[in-house]
Amino acid sequence: MHQFTKTLVTTALPYANGPVHLGHLAGVYLPADIYVRYKRLKGEDIIHIGGSDEHGVPITITAEKEGISPRDVVDRYHQMNMAAFSKCGISFDYYGRTTSELHHKTAQEFFLDIEEKGIFQRKSEKLFFDSRADRFLSDRYVTGTCPICNNAEANGDQCEQCGTHLSPLELINPKSKLSDATPELRETMHWYFPLGRFQQQLENYVTQHEEEWRQNVVNYSRTWLNQGLKDRAITRDLGWGIQVPLESQEALGKVLYVWFDAVLGYISFTREWAASLGQSERWKEYWQNPECRLVQFIGKDNVVFHTLMLPAILMAWNEGRQSGRYNLADNVPASEFMNFEGRKFSKSRNYAIYLGEFLEKFPADTLRYSIAMNYPENKDTDFSWLDFQNRTNGELADTLGNFIKRSVDFTNSRFGGEVPCDSTAEEWNGLGINWAESLEQLDLAYEGFHFREAASLGMDIARAANRFLTLSEPWKVVKVDREAAARTMALSLNLCHALSFALFPVIPETCNRIHAMLGFEGSIEDLVTPGKSLVAELLLPGLKTGHKIREKSEILFTKIEESDIAPELAKIEGLLADAVEREAGAEQQKMEFKPVISFDDFLKVDLRVARVISAEKVNKAAKLLKLQLQVGSVTKQVLAGIAKHYTPEEMVGKNVLIVANLADRTIRDEVSEGMILAVEGADGKLFVVEPQGNEINGRLIQ
Ligand code: MF3
Ligand code: ZN
Repeated sequence: MHQFTKTLVTTALPYANGPVHLGHLAGVYLPADIYVRYKRLKGEDIIHIGGSDEHGVPITITAEKEGISPRDVVDRYHQMNMAAFSKCGISFDYYGRTTSELHHKTAQEFFLDIEEKGIFQRKSEKLFFDSRADRFLSDRYVTGTCPICNNAEANGDQCEQCGTHLSPLELINPKSKLSDATPELRETMHWYFPLGRFQQQLENYVTQHEEEWRQNVVNYSRTWLNQGLKDRAITRDLGWGIQVPLESQEALGKVLYVWFDAVLGYISFTREWAASLGQSERWKEYWQNPECRLVQFIGKDNVVFHTLMLPAILMAWNEGRQSGRYNLADNVPASEFMNFEGRKFSKSRNYAIYLGEFLEKFPADTLRYSIAMNYPENKDTDFSWLDFQNRTNGELADTLGNFIKRSVDFTNSRFGGEVPCDSTAEEWNGLGINWAESLEQLDLAYEGFHFREAASLGMDIARAANRFLTLSEPWKVVKVDREAAARTMALSLNLCHALSFALFPVIPETCNRIHAMLGFEGSIEDLVTPGKSLVAELLLPGLKTGHKIREKSEILFTKIEESDIAPELAKIEGLLADAVEREAGAEQQKMEFKPVISFDDFLKVDLRVARVISAEKVNKAAKLLKLQLQVGSVTKQVLAGIAKHYTPEEMVGKNVLIVANLADRTIRDEVSEGMILAVEGADGKLFVVEPQGNEINGRLIQ
């Protein structure tokens, strides 16, 4: 068995194209933080590196949607997500961004090394090109009808309605999202990474870790391996990303595929971390040192990028090198998903609770605890407001908070705010807690990434403590046997102390408040000394006679009232109704009617038949036709948005239906004195309503 002296923890780099939500927190960032904080308490050498994934199509699409530059998008969400993580107590040692200079340099170094070794292949292929936008279209920029379920808005990579993975070439009626144009196929050359060249090495790598890795991680990896690894294009025709670092003509306009660049972000950011400490070589102790353990926290959708893609890139780099070889991940604890009120979180559908928003309403530790208790370790779990309320009120407030407050208050009121006596080891183990066993279980839970279990074990101690205090009734006993009450309070305070360590990784801010109430200066982290475990100290009661606690207790958790979560539940109902509607609408377009109007209201609308006597285009308004209409004895000028569907010639002589008493409107300096009626066909084409018959004289239509 390998002896590790250090640990490097990385967390999947969230795309900086939107705010992180509770699903992200539950699967990746909170578990990583709990793990890191626990190991820090043990005095271990561990760093946590993360950051923003700022390249790729998700960013450019968001930019186009919002009409801003990709740079604006990533600046906004990088700051926002970093702030939300910090407010949630996710204690990154470094939080980088893939747009940084050093990251660009690092990714290009890797590209060049592999290119110079002749490992990449070049392949020409035909890809969709939007000639109006003058750009190649990556999968997500193409939309069209799904060949499987007929969804008219399938994406080039996947149909959201039926879930089928697609290639843009399979879409019926493909359209460019950039311009609506029908894209054409054009030849383009790309660099491919031959994953198959590393098939054997990767199989060995996965086999080596089969016992240790989670089942889902092994399964996803094996599925890919069993299908035979294919060449993967690692460049793209895109205006946003890391340039292919070659002078040649063929490299022009090509950037590295976002996944090739992002997985190397872990390395760049560790380099930046070291540089920020003024020890620019120190990153090597974590990446190029066999004594450092690499643990990469991710969601299950990222597995193969971390168990096959990144290892293959590192294998390519390591090839032919004696020194400067990179470590591969020792473990990749991939989570399942945490759902939200029974449904998948969906960024694109806005069905989510965003971390930053949540923390404006509720304290971080209530969230951390609830989420830890719902950690999707081996199966999908669910976050619900009711569960959040119950855990906060029942477990955090009534059990933990109440116990701490009673212990501190009673010690202050009856024992002068001091630990009244030493507790013995026998007493300590006579509380219904076998500390040696408990601490070992706790250790196995934290070290084994079983964070639900770790949080539960901590809460079990709080429960036992609360029960002990209640049953001992020191407030009664003190009147007849002051010494017995003193022993109870000494034990209770020691339990508070133990809880502040055992639960620290999960609810750090609360534990620091407990620490302060127990009369300590500074925070729990301040006590850490390298190589010395603070957790191991719980084997014996730590507070000695005369230790002064703080005079004032505080309420650790405010209960969550129904009125606090009622608006949230109402919001969910709205979101759920939207989702249900969208699903129903997918099968059959939903009929949505405007509010009912009275017959009298209807009669206010003066509908007339009119004949088009002339028609012409309107300068600089590609959609408009200017029509002169004969309505009985009157002529009216009407501007109609039908120029993409009818030529002026086609319109002349037609009978049309108009709203004749609509208030005049001026459009592009032209007056419009009415509106003609048209209907929309399935593909968006407009058809003017044409009343049949010859008796056209401007009569009211009934
Ligand atoms: N940005 C990707 C996502 O949100 C994850 C990137 S992980 C990394 O799914 F390894 F590439 F950094
Ligand atoms: Zn489909």
